[in-house]
Amino acid sequence: MKPKNDTFLRALKRESTEYTPLWLMRQAGRYLPEYCATRSKAGSFMALAQSPDLACEVTLQPVERFNLDAAILFSDILTIPDAMGLGLSFVAGEGPKFAKPISTESDVEKLFVPDPNVELKYVMDAVRQIRTTLNNKVPLIGFSGSPFTLACYMVEGGSSVDYRKFKTMIYKNPSMVHKLLEVNTHSVIAYLNAQIQAGAQAVMIFDTWGGTLPHELYKEFSLKYLKKIVDSLTKEVDGEKVPTIVFTKGSSPWIKEIASIGTDAIGLDWMASLKQARLVTGDCVALQGNLDPMVLFAGEEAIRREARRVIDDYGIVGNGGHVFNLGHGINKDTPPEAVQVLVDEVHSYSRKMHK
Ligand code: CP3
Repeated sequence: MKPKNDTFLRALKRESTEYTPLWLMRQAGRYLPEYCATRSKAGSFMALAQSPDLACEVTLQPVERFNLDAAILFSDILTIPDAMGLGLSFVAGEGPKFAKPISTESDVEKLFVPDPNVELKYVMDAVRQIRTTLNNKVPLIGFSGSPFTLACYMVEGGSSVDYRKFKTMIYKNPSMVHKLLEVNTHSVIAYLNAQIQAGAQAVMIFDTWGGTLPHELYKEFSLKYLKKIVDSLTKEVDGEKVPTIVFTKGSSPWIKEIASIGTDAIGLDWMASLKQARLVTGDCVALQGNLDPMVLFAGEEAIRREARRVIDDYGIVGNGGHVFNLGHGINKDTPPEAVQVLVDEVHSYSRKMHK
């Protein structure tokens, strides 16, 4: 069944809309006092993500507070390696940590493709519960990390500034890295298809760290696997298309190549130009992005001006589809009122770009 507000899905399919729809990466998160309250009730990030009731509650919080055009499943990209037995925890102020990171060939051999309806059943339960509670108000986005980005965390054991361990492995033992990426790819395909089956109406793949690779290696170690995933995803449910969005941070050098893998949309960071991306792709994909998240700290006037700049950069929406978003996740110290200003400006100003 179509959501009452299906502007986001229409924009992704490059169909006409009345205004530019928007949602924000990490829209459910610590900048919202109601999120912090639910998180402390849960006790930990993983307890929050693993409770379908609480995950549903925080997914809906930003959608209820602001007039957003899509909800995104509350979970994390690192649920897959956790389900593979790597032991994920989030230490306050330190980000994610894996108890058993991957360092040897035998660590890779032990990896398996988690059954999304067994090890990751809590995610599918959350998707079903969110769909029921949303009651078709706006579409629900499902998501996963890319094989490459997941591997970064699996090898580093957490966040990293330079990916030294993982890059050393790529240069020293590329065949072992490809084995790791293969398992991740099959896991992501099963995971996203299960989310689609459970009710996700669009899916986004976060290739957050793909852009840290040298030009040719990006194609070999990230894009190749992104293509395999896009090729293997369920394309339609009950006659409704399920669009895909691929987001590689730092993707500007590869926009044309990403457009060629068959994704419906490309997510762009704030360093990219929407205008140039339209030219390079010949409007064969929709574009999502790309306000610098730091603009939200600069007050109402700057927020309105910079939002208009992004909308103007995309230009007149003909057959192209623009979904407004930030160029990366919202910062945890963002004032919630700034988001309201942004939503209002995008919704009102963008109407003049839609003929
Ligand atoms: O967008 C949403 O509202 C949906 C939920 C969502 C989260 N993580 C919740 C979360 C999504 C889509 C993600 C994706 C994710 N997780 C990515 C890709 C997107 C990106 O931002 O690049 C990455 C790289 C991760 C891994 C991850 N999860 C890190 C590095 C951290 C710690 C960062 C931090 O801000 O502390 C997390 C934790 C996390 N995932 C939080 C949230 C709301 C904050 C943790 C908390 O509440 O304690």
